[in-house]
Amino acid sequence: MATKVQSTEREQWSHQTGFILAAIGSAVGLGNIWRFPGVAYEGGGGAFLVPYLIALLTAGIPILFLDYAIGHRFRGAAPLAFRRMKKWTEPLGWFQIMLSFVIAVYYAAVIAWSMSYFVFSFDMEYADDPKGFFLGEYLQVGEPEISTSIVAGVAIPLVLVWVAVLVILGLGVAGGVQRVNVIGIPLLLVAFIALVIRALTLPGATDGLNELFTPDWEALSDPDVWIAAYSQIFFSLSIAFGIMITYASYQKRKANMTSSGLVVAFANSSFEILAGIAVFSTLGFLAFERGVGVGELEGLTGPILSFVTFPAVLAQMPAGSLWGAVFFGALVIAGFTSLISILLGVSASLQEKLGVSRRAAAVGVAAVCGTISVALFSTTSGLLALDTVDQWANNIGVVTSAILMAIIVIWIIRKGDELRFHLNSVSTFKVGRIWILLLGVLAPIYLSYMLIERIITLISDGYEQLPTWYLVVFGWGTIAFTVIAAFVLTALPWRNSTERFTPWPQLRHDDVKTALAGPPQSADGSTNGEIK
Ligand code: PHE
Repeated sequence: MATKVQSTEREQWSHQTGFILAAIGSAVGLGNIWRFPGVAYEGGGGAFLVPYLIALLTAGIPILFLDYAIGHRFRGAAPLAFRRMKKWTEPLGWFQIMLSFVIAVYYAAVIAWSMSYFVFSFDMEYADDPKGFFLGEYLQVGEPEISTSIVAGVAIPLVLVWVAVLVILGLGVAGGVQRVNVIGIPLLLVAFIALVIRALTLPGATDGLNELFTPDWEALSDPDVWIAAYSQIFFSLSIAFGIMITYASYQKRKANMTSSGLVVAFANSSFEILAGIAVFSTLGFLAFERGVGVGELEGLTGPILSFVTFPAVLAQMPAGSLWGAVFFGALVIAGFTSLISILLGVSASLQEKLGVSRRAAAVGVAAVCGTISVALFSTTSGLLALDTVDQWANNIGVVTSAILMAIIVIWIIRKGDELRFHLNSVSTFKVGRIWILLLGVLAPIYLSYMLIERIITLISDGYEQLPTWYLVVFGWGTIAFTVIAAFVLTALPWRNSTERFTPWPQLRHDDVKTALAGPPQSADGSTNGEIK
């Protein structure tokens, strides 16, 4: 079949604020509320803020800028953008998209649980025995096995999540994704502020905060704590997943990229630290009510924190029902705005590669991902599978993606200066040479060190005492699947020409250096009739 040239205009965010809100919506998600407080607590409490901030400054923001630069300059979802930058790098784009796919299928399940818990909050169904309720009555958790018995209570909200995804993706970038965020993010902010104020005024709140923030400096000598900090930053900022590449590709040609990036990164970390404060103040209250120390409480990490320990707090709190609804409602909004970003990356990539319409891609993605999601995660073995897949996709998959992206872009295809030129041509906050240094030298060295350390630990110590066959299937199997799928998808033919594309602003060989300092003279946004 003859290759045809894409003729339709590329979709766009309607304004800079729309893009920023959508990027914040992607970043602020379950990771902030459900993942961060536990990871921070396990990683040395107050001392964790050190690797966390270092990770933000040395890898988070630089890689966020790199994602933005690739997407905005090469105007495509990850596979197309990588291909346009250098043809053979396309598999890296698909690898990132496959990691997104893996995350989406379990992420949706946690949103489904939150929806159920939002409803349960009205009559406090979980109040009597939060643990027995969550693991037994609700999830019906069984042995680590591959179970096929579907739990209706999870499957029904999960199907609703996928239907909502389908509608929003079908409505497109400005009409769907942007609109959800423009409404969702302000709501989320209000809910968050209310929760934090309520939490801080509970008796015992300061004990909880002391527990979270009292530094355990010993933790800093543990490489696992550092890798946890870096993967938390990657997960939280949604970077190295191809998602921010996709989001940036829908920005107008003339758009202030780096300043938006700083706003997004700052907003995300603020939400994250606020969530830590809210969660731990309420835990302080629980400990106070029970007359024990916060450290003696069980279940301070992972899903148990949000779905067992937190409900136990709500059961004892005045107006617990209302606060339960606010908390789980906030989880639903935060999670949903992130989920659609993950899936926009997947559906935009397929749309571009297969030359299908937006709606067809939305239907395909929602149907395939939705079915897998329901089949794997609404069964009685869902919780364990989720925890294992999360561990491998984030600690191994995304860190590998970030290392490969940095090394390939800076050292192998040597696009560092061009991308820096691009960012500086369109943005008011200028990126210095340190950006290249961080991406090209520091990030690959310390990320590789941490990655290898983590792989050795996972091989020698296993994970959460789960049987080896289980880790091979759900842990290593996840990684193998993403790599194989990346090459298979690369091998499929492109339905539209990807070649006829000239990046804008144009880069003239002799003036890279001077141009890096300021905007180009001909910044008129014209596209010379190329593919959008
Ligand atoms: N950043 C989101 C969060 O913190 C989740 C997410 C992860 C979104 C990966 C996209 C990619 O929950």
